[in-house]
Amino acid sequence: METIIILDHGSQYTQLIARKVRELNVYCEIHPFNNPPKFSDEVKGVILSGSPCSVRDENAPNPDLWFKGKMPVLGVCYGAQYMVQAFGGSVVASKIREYGRANLNFIDKESKLLKGVGDNSQVWMSHGDTIESMPESYKVICSTESVKNAGYKIEGEETYAIQFHPEVYHSTDGLTMLKNFVVDICGCEQNWTEDSFVETTIKDLKEKLQDDKVVLGLSGGVDSSVAALLLHRAIGDNLNCIFVDNGLLRKNEFEEVLASYKGMGLNVIGVDAKKEFYSALEGLTDPEKKRKAIGKTFIDVFDAEAAKIKDVKWLGQGTIYPDVIESCSVKGPSVTIKSHHNVGGLPDYMKLKIVEPLRSLFKDEVRRVGRALGLKDELLGRHPFPGPGLAIRILGDITPEKVAILQEVDAIFIDNLKKDGLYNKVWQAGAVLLPIQSVGVMGDERTYERVVALRAVESVDGMTADWCYLPYEFLAKVSNEIINKVKGVNRVCYDISSKPPATIEWE
Ligand code: XMP
Repeated sequence: METIIILDHGSQYTQLIARKVRELNVYCEIHPFNNPPKFSDEVKGVILSGSPCSVRDENAPNPDLWFKGKMPVLGVCYGAQYMVQAFGGSVVASKIREYGRANLNFIDKESKLLKGVGDNSQVWMSHGDTIESMPESYKVICSTESVKNAGYKIEGEETYAIQFHPEVYHSTDGLTMLKNFVVDICGCEQNWTEDSFVETTIKDLKEKLQDDKVVLGLSGGVDSSVAALLLHRAIGDNLNCIFVDNGLLRKNEFEEVLASYKGMGLNVIGVDAKKEFYSALEGLTDPEKKRKAIGKTFIDVFDAEAAKIKDVKWLGQGTIYPDVIESCSVKGPSVTIKSHHNVGGLPDYMKLKIVEPLRSLFKDEVRRVGRALGLKDELLGRHPFPGPGLAIRILGDITPEKVAILQEVDAIFIDNLKKDGLYNKVWQAGAVLLPIQSVGVMGDERTYERVVALRAVESVDGMTADWCYLPYEFLAKVSNEIINKVKGVNRVCYDISSKPPATIEWE
């Protein structure tokens, strides 16, 4: 597969460069600048990312540019400044602010990188340093009013660089520039598509796994479902899936999802472990303790089920690219490894090898692959749901009775979102059971019952989120239905906090 290598110097935008290149149907990989891969013949070019550091810092990233001049290179922001500084030019602290929108008032129309870029095109600057002077062979290809050396090409090489960020939305012709680089300059064929991914992955999995057995934990989420479908296509019934009912799922979710997995032909064992989870959670109120108890119980249950499958050699996981990048980034392994990958914590004695067919995909690509594999829209378009499930939406201790109440409330909320065509507009929604009671009046009776909060957010990746402006009429209808139908609840609130400073889940 033709590949573009992106060397990461720690910029917050590095993943975005990769996503834009993938959008152009060109395969690319991100690697830390200080741990670059061995280049295969398939590497067609290199992109040097931005960085939060200044090239003038003592410990600034210092990639080895052995490939410069041998293949096309595109330096972005820090990458552009580094190639100037390393080869005899000068980079200084900028006197004026070079942050935010700017317009190109000079564009070299002959430049291959800038083909199709409109006059005055808007670009996004984000740097405290600026290129003051450049080595002789560096030729300016674009400027803004305040930044003369906004972009350059090195003569005699296919090396280009720009101080602005083509990958961000505000750089209007940014995608055109990236396309010019990867397609025209590097010569990539744009044949990285979900179909080609499915085909090559299945072939690779067949070679790798041969007649071995694989066990995989399904969660009902998109990632594990797509991973299972791919593995199933490759090795058929040698894939053994385990889907655990932890008693913390949504109303009827276990039965429905299990049925749809079976409908897809997957060899899946449904395990009713509600009792184990409830007893592990008994009396626990601290959110972290609840999470830990759930994680440990999951491993115990999964382990016991997996041990029943004879001669299993591999553990399948739905790990996706952002998790991989996070754990090998410039800054080192992240401290916040997501707990839904808790199957990774399986006991050593199981000695299973790990197979992760989605390791190279971004979330939107996982969805496209899922669609190509025939995964139904109900599964593909599902809102994210946390591994610890309703346990982190019931504040305080967990009892089966509280779970049952919350399941009813949640089902009314979600069903109404679907009925009113709002479900797909919301990134994630759910209900929270609060550990308080409030006074109300029903008929002529005074009531003293539970309070629930509804939460609906807009987000791209869950890292930041804003609460959704759901119509008042909708909220009124849902609130009425909850209070009328769910015994034990007499008050409904709507959460209007954004993340940060709040989080999406309450615990
Ligand atoms: P927060 O609450 O951190 O949530 O804003 C961000 C996203 O992550 C989900 N989430 C989890 N997912 N295990 C998971 O699998 C967890 O322990 C967990 N905690 C939060 C949350 O639902 C949201 O989509």
